[in-house]
Amino acid sequence: MTTIAIIGGSGLHEMPQLSDKKEVFSETPWGMPSAPLEVGFIGKTKVVFLSRHGMSVRYPPHMINYRANLWAINQLSPDFVVGFGSVGCISPEDKPGMLAIPDQLIDYTWGRESSYNCGDSETIVHIDFTNPFDEKVRELLLDASGALSYPIIDGGVYGVTQGPRLETASEVDRMARDGVHYIGMTLMPEACLARELNLPYAMICQIVNHAAGRQTSEECIDFTNLSEILERTTKQSLEIVLKASEDLNIDELK
Ligand code: HPA
Repeated sequence: MTTIAIIGGSGLHEMPQLSDKKEVFSETPWGMPSAPLEVGFIGKTKVVFLSRHGMSVRYPPHMINYRANLWAINQLSPDFVVGFGSVGCISPEDKPGMLAIPDQLIDYTWGRESSYNCGDSETIVHIDFTNPFDEKVRELLLDASGALSYPIIDGGVYGVTQGPRLETASEVDRMARDGVHYIGMTLMPEACLARELNLPYAMICQIVNHAAGRQTSEECIDFTNLSEILERTTKQSLEIVLKASEDLNIDELK
């Protein structure tokens, strides 16, 4: 049986679609995850769902217990993990309403607990992070979105900012010079913790706004008007992930 894990972002806090749903409360050596895990089925696929920002309490990106989140998910041995994340886009060719599956990242965050390696074991582990996403999971998602005919951008660099404030126009200019395409606040340390745990991980991004200082965000980013676009792109992303899990040949992932 295929088991997939979904980490919901700002547009996805629960999964009412799950049948035979159970809530799993897991205390981890790193504390409590953002919310209880929801475990259930969509068709034949077992789905583990975690709301990254929590359920009743909403944790801002810099206050999320990423270590507990990934640890709790790993206890349920999913075949792969997909993070959902809303982002702003930098280049004028990219538009709000599109989806993207990045293939690189630059981490601008600071002060987040970003490793399970805390100097209390005999060895120091340096994970390889040349390619921060699992290529096979990326391909599964891209194939599934092609089959559903959703417009999706293959690749691009996700710049992870500390938040919770949005960026200044000059910060966005600097990130453009660095080669960043999409800006969000939650990909790190989620991606590197997944790698430490050997969990195949990819992110599907919902582009909800132009980045600060660009196009329609030239003067400001009006976050209050983004809910319709977030809802639509999140729904499409969920369909893509579920289609990808239907198509999964687990042996190909190993
Ligand atoms: N910047 C950072 N995080 C975001 C943005 C943005 O423009 N849009 C959605 N999440």
